[in-house]
Amino acid sequence: MRGLQVRVLLGVPHLSSMFIVFEGIDGTGKSTQVKLLAEAFRAKGKEVIVSKEPTDGPHGTRLRKSAETGRLSAQEELDLFHLDRREHVETLINPALARGAVVILDRYYFSTMAYQGIRGFDPREIRRINEKFAPLPDLVFILELNLDSALSRIGVRDGQANEFEQRDALQKCHDVFASLEDKFVRRIDAEQSPAEVHEKIAQYLDL
Ligand code: TYD
Repeated sequence: MRGLQVRVLLGVPHLSSMFIVFEGIDGTGKSTQVKLLAEAFRAKGKEVIVSKEPTDGPHGTRLRKSAETGRLSAQEELDLFHLDRREHVETLINPALARGAVVILDRYYFSTMAYQGIRGFDPREIRRINEKFAPLPDLVFILELNLDSALSRIGVRDGQANEFEQRDALQKCHDVFASLEDKFVRRIDAEQSPAEVHEKIAQYLDL
């Protein structure tokens, strides 16, 4: 339904809500693209809500801390991502879409399919659970990067890769993102400069 909507609305983004998600492995530059896209929509006078998952709420905060202080069990981690997302959908995403805003997210349930998928859960089952409560996005931009480039970018940014960011895990996550075949998915080559990546995205959206 929203897939159909997006085709109708792409030329006139100011007329209605739009739900845009950025996905990709660590180091692909999602947060930069989220900011650039938000600025482009704001320049057109749109109300834009920018957010990320895990959120800064209580569940998201616990998840972020666990990456450094000791990883939770796979089940506990999955449950927390779902609790965090439920709250995100109810308190921020759905209300913003209902009033016609553009919502731009840095990660959504496709990341759960990828990152919790590699901890042993079936990505299709994760998707089924999420789509019971989480609205379908209009567009998902998957930023694609060669594994070596991703690792070197993470290294430059963080100094030291943490447990979430190991090569093998990133490869498997990449494979899950690569397997998505939905009409709302757009793959973007993230080897280019941030400005070039943004230009491609803006073109898709006719901004
Ligand atoms: P990330 O966007 O990389 O946060 P930061 O800006 O702090 O680097 O997200 C943190 C990690 O959370 C990332 O490695 C992916 C992971 N993650 C999951 O494992 N499952 C999920 O559902 C989400 C949304 C993220």
